[in-house]
Amino acid sequence: MRIAIIGAGYVGLTSAAVYAKLGHTVFAVRKDAEKVEMLKRGEVPFYEPGLPELVKDGVQSGRLIPTTSYAEAVPNAEVIFICVGTPPLSSGEADLSQVFAAAREVAENWGEGYKVIADKSTVPVGTAQKVRKVIEEVLVARPQNRSGLATSQFDVASCPEFLREGSAVHDTLNPDRVVIGTDSERARAVLSKVHEDLPGERVITDIRTAEMIKYASNAFLATKISFINEIANVCDEVGANVDEVARGMGLDPRIGSAFLKAGIGYGGACFPKDTKALHSIAFLHDYDFKLLKAVIEVNKAQRRHFLRKVRQMLAPLAGKKIGILGLAFKNNTDDVRESAALDIASWLIKEGAQVVAYDPQAAENAKAVIKAELSPNQSSALDSVFITCPTAEEAARDADALLVLTEWKEFCDLPWSDLRSMMNQAIVFDGRNLLDSKKMRELGFTYVSVGRP
Ligand SMILES: NC(=O)c1ccc[n+]([C@@H]2O[C@H](COP(=O)([O-])OP(=O)(O)OC[C@H]3O[C@@H](n4cnc5c(N)ncnc54)[C@H](O)[C@@H]3O)[C@@H](O)[C@H]2O)c1
Repeated sequence: MRIAIIGAGYVGLTSAAVYAKLGHTVFAVRKDAEKVEMLKRGEVPFYEPGLPELVKDGVQSGRLIPTTSYAEAVPNAEVIFICVGTPPLSSGEADLSQVFAAAREVAENWGEGYKVIADKSTVPVGTAQKVRKVIEEVLVARPQNRSGLATSQFDVASCPEFLREGSAVHDTLNPDRVVIGTDSERARAVLSKVHEDLPGERVITDIRTAEMIKYASNAFLATKISFINEIANVCDEVGANVDEVARGMGLDPRIGSAFLKAGIGYGGACFPKDTKALHSIAFLHDYDFKLLKAVIEVNKAQRRHFLRKVRQMLAPLAGKKIGILGLAFKNNTDDVRESAALDIASWLIKEGAQVVAYDPQAAENAKAVIKAELSPNQSSALDSVFITCPTAEEAARDADALLVLTEWKEFCDLPWSDLRSMMNQAIVFDGRNLLDSKKMRELGFTYVSVGRP
Protein backbone atom coordinates (compact mmCIF):
# COMPACT_ATOMS: atom_id res chain seq x y z
CA MET A 1 0.00 0.00 0.00
CA ARG A 2 1.07 3.61 -0.47
CA ILE A 3 1.10 5.53 2.76
CA ALA A 4 1.90 9.17 3.58
CA ILE A 5 2.97 10.09 7.09
CA ILE A 6 2.61 13.77 7.94
CA GLY A 7 5.01 14.81 10.72
CA ALA A 8 8.07 12.58 10.97
CA GLY A 9 8.91 13.00 14.69
CA TYR A 10 9.04 10.28 17.35
CA VAL A 11 5.67 8.82 16.36
CA GLY A 12 5.61 9.59 12.64
CA LEU A 13 9.12 8.50 11.78
CA THR A 14 8.90 5.29 13.82
CA SER A 15 5.55 4.42 12.24
CA ALA A 16 6.87 5.24 8.77
CA ALA A 17 9.94 3.03 9.21
CA VAL A 18 7.83 0.16 10.58
CA TYR A 19 5.24 0.37 7.79
CA ALA A 20 8.11 0.34 5.27
CA LYS A 21 9.53 -2.75 6.99
CA LEU A 22 6.11 -4.39 6.62
CA GLY A 23 6.41 -3.87 2.85
CA HIS A 24 4.39 -0.68 2.31
CA THR A 25 5.69 2.29 0.34
CA VAL A 26 5.82 5.15 2.81
CA PHE A 27 6.38 8.86 2.25
CA ALA A 28 7.48 10.58 5.47
CA VAL A 29 6.83 14.32 5.33
CA ARG A 30 8.82 16.79 7.43
CA LYS A 31 8.97 20.51 6.75
CA ASP A 32 12.64 21.05 7.57
CA ALA A 33 14.76 20.29 4.50
CA GLU A 34 17.96 19.80 6.49
CA LYS A 35 16.37 17.06 8.66
CA VAL A 36 14.89 15.41 5.57
CA GLU A 37 18.38 15.26 4.07
CA MET A 38 19.56 13.57 7.29
CA LEU A 39 16.75 11.02 7.02
CA LYS A 40 17.66 10.31 3.41
CA ARG A 41 21.16 9.40 4.65
CA GLY A 42 19.57 7.11 7.22
CA GLU A 43 20.31 9.45 10.14
CA VAL A 44 17.68 10.21 12.76
CA PRO A 45 17.52 13.74 14.20
CA PHE A 46 16.68 12.50 17.71
CA TYR A 47 17.78 9.60 19.91
CA GLU A 48 15.62 6.48 19.67
CA PRO A 49 17.30 3.08 20.03
CA GLY A 50 17.07 0.91 16.90
CA LEU A 51 15.42 3.58 14.77
CA PRO A 52 18.46 4.66 12.70
CA GLU A 53 18.99 1.07 11.55
CA LEU A 54 15.33 0.71 10.58
CA VAL A 55 15.28 4.07 8.77
CA LYS A 56 18.47 3.21 6.90
CA ASP A 57 17.02 -0.15 5.81
CA GLY A 58 13.80 1.51 4.71
CA VAL A 59 15.54 4.23 2.71
CA GLN A 60 17.92 1.73 1.07
CA SER A 61 15.01 -0.54 0.12
CA GLY A 62 13.31 2.44 -1.56
CA ARG A 63 10.15 1.85 0.50
CA LEU A 64 10.77 4.70 2.95
CA ILE A 65 10.87 8.04 1.19
CA PRO A 66 11.59 11.10 3.37
CA THR A 67 10.39 14.29 1.73
CA THR A 68 9.46 17.90 2.38
CA SER A 69 6.87 17.74 -0.38
CA TYR A 70 3.18 17.05 0.15
CA ALA A 71 2.89 17.06 -3.64
CA GLU A 72 5.22 14.06 -3.76
CA ALA A 73 3.67 12.23 -0.82
CA VAL A 74 -0.07 12.74 -0.98
CA PRO A 75 -1.50 12.35 -4.50
CA ASN A 76 -0.90 8.61 -4.80
CA ALA A 77 -1.28 7.67 -1.14
CA GLU A 78 -4.26 5.53 -0.13
CA VAL A 79 -3.72 6.15 3.57
CA ILE A 80 -2.49 9.33 5.20
CA PHE A 81 -1.54 9.31 8.87
CA ILE A 82 -1.41 12.67 10.61
CA CYS A 83 1.36 12.47 13.23
CA VAL A 84 2.08 16.13 14.01
CA GLY A 85 2.38 17.62 17.50
CA THR A 86 -0.62 18.51 19.66
CA PRO A 87 0.98 20.65 22.39
CA PRO A 88 -1.07 22.14 25.22
CA LEU A 89 -2.56 25.63 25.07
CA SER A 90 -2.29 27.69 28.25
CA SER A 91 -5.88 26.60 29.03
CA GLY A 92 -4.75 22.95 29.05
CA GLU A 93 -6.70 22.20 25.86
CA ALA A 94 -4.83 20.53 22.99
CA ASP A 95 -3.58 22.95 20.34
CA LEU A 96 -4.84 21.43 17.09
CA SER A 97 -3.40 24.03 14.74
CA GLN A 98 -0.71 21.65 13.42
CA VAL A 99 -3.34 18.96 12.78
CA PHE A 100 -5.62 21.27 10.82
CA ALA A 101 -2.71 22.84 8.91
CA ALA A 102 -1.57 19.34 7.92
CA ALA A 103 -5.13 18.38 6.86
CA ARG A 104 -5.39 21.52 4.73
CA GLU A 105 -2.09 20.80 2.98
CA VAL A 106 -3.15 17.20 2.40
CA ALA A 107 -6.35 18.42 0.74
CA GLU A 108 -4.50 21.01 -1.35
CA ASN A 109 -2.27 18.24 -2.73
CA TRP A 110 -4.99 15.62 -3.07
CA GLY A 111 -4.55 14.13 -6.51
CA GLU A 112 -7.25 11.61 -7.34
CA GLY A 113 -8.74 8.48 -5.85
CA TYR A 114 -10.10 7.30 -2.52
CA LYS A 115 -8.05 8.01 0.63
CA VAL A 116 -8.26 7.36 4.35
CA ILE A 117 -7.03 10.20 6.58
CA ALA A 118 -6.24 8.81 10.02
CA ASP A 119 -5.12 10.74 13.10
CA LYS A 120 -2.27 9.10 14.97
CA SER A 121 -1.65 12.30 16.89
CA THR A 122 -3.38 12.33 20.27
CA VAL A 123 -6.43 14.50 19.73
CA PRO A 124 -9.67 15.34 21.54
CA VAL A 125 -12.90 13.55 20.74
CA GLY A 126 -14.43 15.08 17.63
CA THR A 127 -11.13 16.03 15.95
CA ALA A 128 -11.40 13.52 13.10
CA GLN A 129 -14.74 15.05 12.14
CA LYS A 130 -13.15 18.51 12.17
CA VAL A 131 -10.35 17.17 9.95
CA ARG A 132 -13.07 15.90 7.59
CA LYS A 133 -14.55 19.41 7.43
CA VAL A 134 -11.19 21.06 6.74
CA ILE A 135 -10.53 18.63 3.88
CA GLU A 136 -14.03 18.94 2.46
CA GLU A 137 -13.80 22.71 2.37
CA VAL A 138 -10.66 22.54 0.26
CA LEU A 139 -11.86 19.71 -2.00
CA VAL A 140 -15.25 21.24 -2.63
CA ALA A 141 -13.55 24.43 -3.78
CA ARG A 142 -11.51 22.54 -6.39
CA PRO A 143 -12.72 23.27 -9.93
CA GLN A 144 -12.84 19.56 -10.86
CA ASN A 145 -15.13 18.82 -7.91
CA ARG A 146 -18.09 20.94 -8.91
CA SER A 147 -20.13 17.74 -9.02
CA GLY A 148 -19.82 17.35 -5.25
CA LEU A 149 -17.58 14.29 -5.30
CA ALA A 150 -15.60 15.46 -2.30
CA THR A 151 -17.37 13.71 0.54
CA SER A 152 -17.40 10.25 -1.00
CA GLN A 153 -13.78 10.12 -2.04
CA PHE A 154 -12.32 9.91 1.43
CA ASP A 155 -12.96 8.78 4.98
CA VAL A 156 -11.47 9.95 8.25
CA ALA A 157 -10.36 7.68 11.06
CA SER A 158 -8.59 7.58 14.41
CA CYS A 159 -5.64 5.22 14.89
CA PRO A 160 -4.13 6.36 18.19
CA GLU A 161 -0.54 5.47 18.88
CA PHE A 162 0.67 3.82 22.09
CA LEU A 163 4.44 3.58 21.56
CA ARG A 164 6.79 4.59 24.35
CA GLU A 165 9.82 6.73 23.62
CA GLY A 166 12.94 4.70 24.34
CA SER A 167 11.32 1.50 23.07
CA ALA A 168 9.38 2.99 20.17
CA VAL A 169 10.62 0.53 17.54
CA HIS A 170 9.85 -2.51 19.66
CA ASP A 171 6.44 -1.15 20.66
CA THR A 172 5.46 -0.31 17.09
CA LEU A 173 6.50 -3.73 15.82
CA ASN A 174 4.82 -5.49 18.77
CA PRO A 175 1.74 -3.49 19.72
CA ASP A 176 -0.50 -4.84 22.51
CA ARG A 177 -3.42 -3.56 20.50
CA VAL A 178 -4.16 -1.79 17.24
CA VAL A 179 -7.07 0.59 17.64
CA ILE A 180 -8.96 1.42 14.46
CA GLY A 181 -11.73 3.95 14.87
CA THR A 182 -13.85 4.73 11.84
CA ASP A 183 -17.47 4.91 10.83
CA SER A 184 -16.80 3.53 7.34
CA GLU A 185 -16.57 -0.13 6.30
CA ARG A 186 -14.23 0.80 3.47
CA ALA A 187 -11.80 2.68 5.72
CA ARG A 188 -11.92 -0.16 8.25
CA ALA A 189 -10.87 -2.63 5.56
CA VAL A 190 -8.05 -0.39 4.34
CA LEU A 191 -6.65 0.23 7.85
CA SER A 192 -6.96 -3.44 8.77
CA LYS A 193 -4.91 -4.28 5.68
CA VAL A 194 -2.22 -1.72 6.57
CA HIS A 195 -1.75 -3.40 9.95
CA GLU A 196 -2.41 -7.04 8.96
CA ASP A 197 1.17 -8.21 9.55
CA LEU A 198 1.40 -6.73 13.04
CA PRO A 199 0.60 -8.79 16.15
CA GLY A 200 -1.73 -7.57 18.91
CA GLU A 201 -5.46 -7.45 19.55
CA ARG A 202 -7.60 -5.40 17.16
CA VAL A 203 -9.97 -2.89 18.70
CA ILE A 204 -12.30 -1.94 15.87
CA THR A 205 -14.59 0.81 16.98
CA ASP A 206 -16.15 4.15 16.12
CA ILE A 207 -14.04 7.29 15.77
CA ARG A 208 -15.03 9.02 19.00
CA THR A 209 -14.39 5.90 21.07
CA ALA A 210 -10.95 5.45 19.51
CA GLU A 211 -10.05 9.05 20.29
CA MET A 212 -11.19 8.53 23.87
CA ILE A 213 -9.26 5.25 24.30
CA LYS A 214 -5.96 7.09 23.93
CA TYR A 215 -6.74 9.78 26.50
CA ALA A 216 -8.24 7.28 28.92
CA SER A 217 -5.15 5.05 28.64
CA ASN A 218 -2.70 7.86 29.36
CA ALA A 219 -4.87 9.28 32.14
CA PHE A 220 -5.01 5.86 33.80
CA LEU A 221 -1.24 5.35 33.61
CA ALA A 222 -0.68 8.84 35.02
CA THR A 223 -3.12 7.99 37.80
CA LYS A 224 -1.11 4.89 38.73
CA ILE A 225 2.05 6.99 38.97
CA SER A 226 0.48 9.72 41.09
CA PHE A 227 -1.16 7.08 43.26
CA ILE A 228 2.09 5.28 44.06
CA ASN A 229 3.83 8.62 44.63
CA GLU A 230 1.26 9.54 47.26
CA ILE A 231 1.68 6.09 48.83
CA ALA A 232 5.45 6.76 48.84
CA ASN A 233 4.96 10.06 50.64
CA VAL A 234 2.89 8.30 53.30
CA CYS A 235 5.55 5.55 53.49
CA ASP A 236 8.10 8.30 54.25
CA GLU A 237 5.95 9.41 57.16
CA VAL A 238 5.25 5.97 58.62
CA GLY A 239 8.56 4.27 57.88
CA ALA A 240 7.30 1.73 55.31
CA ASN A 241 9.08 0.79 52.07
CA VAL A 242 7.17 1.77 48.92
CA ASP A 243 9.11 -0.62 46.68
CA GLU A 244 7.92 -3.55 48.78
CA VAL A 245 4.42 -2.09 49.01
CA ALA A 246 4.32 -1.79 45.19
CA ARG A 247 5.57 -5.36 44.80
CA GLY A 248 2.97 -6.62 47.24
CA MET A 249 0.24 -4.73 45.40
CA GLY A 250 1.42 -5.53 41.88
CA LEU A 251 1.32 -9.29 42.36
CA ASP A 252 -2.46 -8.99 42.40
CA PRO A 253 -3.36 -9.36 38.70
CA ARG A 254 -6.24 -6.94 39.18
CA ILE A 255 -3.64 -4.28 40.00
CA GLY A 256 -0.56 -5.31 38.00
CA SER A 257 3.00 -4.23 38.70
CA ALA A 258 3.61 -1.82 35.80
CA PHE A 259 3.74 1.90 36.52
CA LEU A 260 3.93 1.44 40.27
CA LYS A 261 7.43 2.89 40.60
CA ALA A 262 7.56 5.79 43.00
CA GLY A 263 9.73 8.79 42.18
CA ILE A 264 9.59 12.44 41.20
CA GLY A 265 6.66 12.00 38.87
CA TYR A 266 5.88 11.73 35.19
CA GLY A 267 7.00 14.10 32.43
CA GLY A 268 7.48 13.90 28.67
CA ALA A 269 5.51 14.93 25.65
CA CYS A 270 2.40 12.90 26.48
CA PHE A 271 1.19 12.40 30.06
CA PRO A 272 1.35 16.04 31.21
CA LYS A 273 -0.44 17.41 28.16
CA ASP A 274 -2.87 14.51 27.71
CA THR A 275 -4.05 14.58 31.33
CA LYS A 276 -4.60 18.33 31.07
CA ALA A 277 -6.36 17.95 27.73
CA LEU A 278 -8.74 15.27 29.03
CA HIS A 279 -9.49 17.39 32.06
CA SER A 280 -10.32 20.32 29.74
CA ILE A 281 -12.47 18.12 27.50
CA ALA A 282 -14.50 17.04 30.54
CA PHE A 283 -14.71 20.63 31.79
CA LEU A 284 -15.95 21.88 28.41
CA HIS A 285 -18.70 19.28 28.68
CA ASP A 286 -19.54 20.61 32.12
CA TYR A 287 -18.03 17.62 33.93
CA ASP A 288 -15.57 18.12 36.77
CA PHE A 289 -13.07 15.25 36.49
CA LYS A 290 -11.91 15.53 40.11
CA LEU A 291 -9.72 12.45 40.13
CA LEU A 292 -7.72 13.61 37.11
CA LYS A 293 -7.33 17.08 38.59
CA ALA A 294 -5.78 15.48 41.69
CA VAL A 295 -3.48 13.31 39.54
CA ILE A 296 -2.15 16.43 37.82
CA GLU A 297 -1.70 18.32 41.08
CA VAL A 298 0.04 15.40 42.81
CA ASN A 299 2.46 15.12 39.90
CA LYS A 300 3.30 18.81 40.05
CA ALA A 301 3.78 18.68 43.82
CA GLN A 302 6.00 15.58 43.74
CA ARG A 303 9.02 17.33 42.22
CA ARG A 304 8.62 20.19 44.74
CA HIS A 305 8.41 17.63 47.55
CA PHE A 306 11.73 16.16 46.40
CA LEU A 307 13.34 19.60 46.24
CA ARG A 308 12.21 20.21 49.82
CA LYS A 309 14.11 17.10 50.92
CA VAL A 310 17.24 18.38 49.19
CA ARG A 311 16.81 21.83 50.70
CA GLN A 312 16.24 20.44 54.18
CA MET A 313 19.56 18.63 54.15
CA LEU A 314 21.70 21.10 52.21
CA ALA A 315 20.27 24.51 53.11
CA PRO A 316 21.27 27.07 52.20
CA LEU A 317 21.52 26.00 48.57
CA ALA A 318 23.31 29.19 47.53
CA GLY A 319 26.95 28.44 46.77
CA LYS A 320 26.45 24.64 46.78
CA LYS A 321 27.64 22.52 43.90
CA ILE A 322 25.00 19.93 43.01
CA GLY A 323 25.68 17.08 40.62
CA ILE A 324 22.73 15.78 38.60
CA LEU A 325 22.58 12.38 36.93
CA GLY A 326 19.87 12.37 34.27
CA LEU A 327 18.09 15.20 32.48
CA ALA A 328 15.80 13.35 30.06
CA PHE A 329 12.19 12.85 31.18
CA LYS A 330 12.87 9.10 31.25
CA ASN A 331 15.66 6.72 30.28
CA ASN A 332 16.60 5.76 26.72
CA THR A 333 15.56 9.06 25.19
CA ASP A 334 16.98 12.52 24.60
CA ASP A 335 13.53 14.05 25.07
CA VAL A 336 13.40 16.67 27.83
CA ARG A 337 9.86 17.91 27.28
CA GLU A 338 8.24 18.48 30.72
CA SER A 339 11.17 16.70 32.35
CA ALA A 340 11.03 16.73 36.17
CA ALA A 341 14.85 16.82 36.14
CA LEU A 342 14.88 20.16 34.35
CA ASP A 343 12.39 21.72 36.75
CA ILE A 344 14.53 20.62 39.68
CA ALA A 345 17.76 21.81 38.02
CA SER A 346 16.36 25.26 37.30
CA TRP A 347 14.88 25.62 40.82
CA LEU A 348 18.30 24.75 42.29
CA ILE A 349 19.96 27.36 40.06
CA LYS A 350 17.36 29.97 41.00
CA GLU A 351 18.20 29.31 44.67
CA GLY A 352 21.88 30.02 43.95
CA ALA A 353 23.32 26.52 43.49
CA GLN A 354 25.66 25.56 40.70
CA VAL A 355 24.43 22.49 38.79
CA VAL A 356 26.80 20.10 37.05
CA ALA A 357 24.82 17.55 35.07
CA TYR A 358 25.46 14.36 33.16
CA ASP A 359 22.96 12.65 30.86
CA PRO A 360 23.96 10.03 28.27
CA GLN A 361 21.80 11.65 25.55
CA ALA A 362 19.83 14.70 26.63
CA ALA A 363 22.45 17.33 27.62
CA GLU A 364 22.13 19.47 24.49
CA ASN A 365 18.31 19.54 24.55
CA ALA A 366 18.40 20.29 28.28
CA LYS A 367 20.70 23.27 27.92
CA ALA A 368 18.32 25.02 25.53
CA VAL A 369 15.35 24.52 27.88
CA ILE A 370 17.21 25.60 31.04
CA LYS A 371 18.44 28.74 29.28
CA ALA A 372 14.84 29.70 28.49
CA GLU A 373 13.75 29.01 32.11
CA LEU A 374 16.25 31.29 33.80
CA SER A 375 16.18 35.02 34.41
CA PRO A 376 18.16 37.10 31.86
CA ASN A 377 20.99 37.55 34.39
CA GLN A 378 21.31 33.86 35.18
CA SER A 379 20.79 32.96 31.56
CA SER A 380 23.71 35.10 30.42
CA ALA A 381 25.89 33.25 32.95
CA LEU A 382 24.47 29.86 31.92
CA ASP A 383 27.87 28.23 31.45
CA SER A 384 28.82 28.90 35.05
CA VAL A 385 25.51 27.91 36.72
CA PHE A 386 24.50 24.95 34.54
CA ILE A 387 27.38 22.85 33.32
CA THR A 388 26.85 19.67 31.36
CA CYS A 389 29.67 17.14 31.36
CA PRO A 390 30.50 13.95 29.47
CA THR A 391 30.77 11.58 32.45
CA ALA A 392 29.06 10.90 35.77
CA GLU A 393 32.45 11.19 37.47
CA GLU A 394 32.72 14.84 36.42
CA ALA A 395 29.26 15.55 37.80
CA ALA A 396 30.31 14.01 41.11
CA ARG A 397 33.66 15.80 41.46
CA ASP A 398 33.57 18.19 44.46
CA ALA A 399 29.75 17.98 44.55
CA ASP A 400 27.92 18.67 47.81
CA ALA A 401 25.32 16.12 46.71
CA LEU A 402 24.40 14.00 43.71
CA LEU A 403 20.78 13.84 42.51
CA VAL A 404 19.63 10.87 40.41
CA LEU A 405 16.74 12.24 38.33
CA THR A 406 16.41 9.88 35.33
CA GLU A 407 16.33 6.09 35.55
CA TRP A 408 19.17 5.38 33.09
CA LYS A 409 20.26 1.79 33.79
CA GLU A 410 23.94 2.73 33.48
CA PHE A 411 23.67 4.74 36.72
CA CYS A 412 23.22 1.46 38.61
CA ASP A 413 26.62 0.28 37.39
CA LEU A 414 28.63 3.41 38.20
CA PRO A 415 31.76 2.96 40.37
CA TRP A 416 29.91 4.48 43.32
CA SER A 417 32.79 3.93 45.71
CA ASP A 418 35.08 6.03 43.46
CA LEU A 419 32.37 8.66 43.08
CA ARG A 420 32.04 8.93 46.85
CA SER A 421 35.74 9.68 47.23
CA MET A 422 35.48 12.49 44.62
CA MET A 423 32.54 14.24 46.27
CA ASN A 424 32.73 17.05 48.75
CA GLN A 425 29.90 15.44 50.75
CA ALA A 426 28.80 11.86 50.18
CA ILE A 427 25.09 12.56 49.83
CA VAL A 428 22.85 10.99 47.16
CA PHE A 429 19.22 11.93 46.57
CA ASP A 430 17.67 9.25 44.37
CA GLY A 431 14.54 10.63 42.73
CA ARG A 432 13.87 7.39 40.84
CA ASN A 433 14.50 4.78 43.56
CA LEU A 434 17.05 3.37 41.14
CA LEU A 435 19.83 2.39 43.51
CA ASP A 436 20.02 -0.20 46.27
CA SER A 437 19.65 1.77 49.48
CA LYS A 438 21.42 -0.83 51.63
CA LYS A 439 24.45 -0.94 49.32
CA MET A 440 24.63 2.85 49.06
CA ARG A 441 24.65 3.18 52.84
CA GLU A 442 27.26 0.43 53.17
CA LEU A 443 29.44 2.45 50.79
CA GLY A 444 29.20 5.36 53.21
CA PHE A 445 26.63 7.52 51.47
CA THR A 446 23.89 9.46 53.15
CA TYR A 447 21.18 8.15 50.85
CA VAL A 448 17.71 9.63 50.47
CA SER A 449 15.10 8.20 48.10
CA VAL A 450 11.31 8.34 47.68
CA GLY A 451 9.23 6.40 50.18
CA ARG A 452 12.02 4.08 51.30
CA PRO A 453 13.42 4.22 54.85
N1 LIG B 1 6.13 10.81 21.69
C1 LIG B 1 5.37 9.82 22.17
O1 LIG B 1 5.80 9.00 22.98
C2 LIG B 1 3.95 9.67 21.68
C3 LIG B 1 3.29 8.45 21.87
C4 LIG B 1 1.98 8.33 21.42
C5 LIG B 1 1.34 9.41 20.83
N2 LIG B 1 2.01 10.60 20.70
C6 LIG B 1 1.30 11.70 20.05
O2 LIG B 1 1.74 11.78 18.69
C7 LIG B 1 1.79 13.14 18.26
C8 LIG B 1 3.19 13.46 17.79
O3 LIG B 1 4.08 13.32 18.88
P1 LIG B 1 5.67 13.26 18.67
O4 LIG B 1 6.27 13.01 20.01
O5 LIG B 1 5.99 12.36 17.53
O6 LIG B 1 5.95 14.78 18.25
P2 LIG B 1 7.24 15.35 17.52
O7 LIG B 1 7.29 16.78 17.91
O8 LIG B 1 8.42 14.48 17.75
O9 LIG B 1 6.88 15.22 15.96
C9 LIG B 1 5.93 16.00 15.31
C10 LIG B 1 6.54 16.40 13.98
O10 LIG B 1 5.53 16.99 13.15
C11 LIG B 1 6.16 18.00 12.38
N3 LIG B 1 5.11 18.86 11.80
C12 LIG B 1 4.31 19.77 12.40
N4 LIG B 1 3.45 20.32 11.51
C13 LIG B 1 3.72 19.73 10.33
C14 LIG B 1 3.15 19.86 9.04
N5 LIG B 1 2.14 20.70 8.78
N6 LIG B 1 3.65 19.10 8.03
C15 LIG B 1 4.67 18.24 8.27
N7 LIG B 1 5.24 18.08 9.46
C16 LIG B 1 4.77 18.81 10.48
C17 LIG B 1 7.07 18.67 13.37
O11 LIG B 1 8.06 19.44 12.74
C18 LIG B 1 7.65 17.44 14.09
O12 LIG B 1 8.79 16.96 13.42
C19 LIG B 1 1.33 13.96 19.46
O13 LIG B 1 -0.05 14.19 19.36
C20 LIG B 1 1.61 13.06 20.64
O14 LIG B 1 0.77 13.32 21.74
C21 LIG B 1 3.30 10.75 21.08
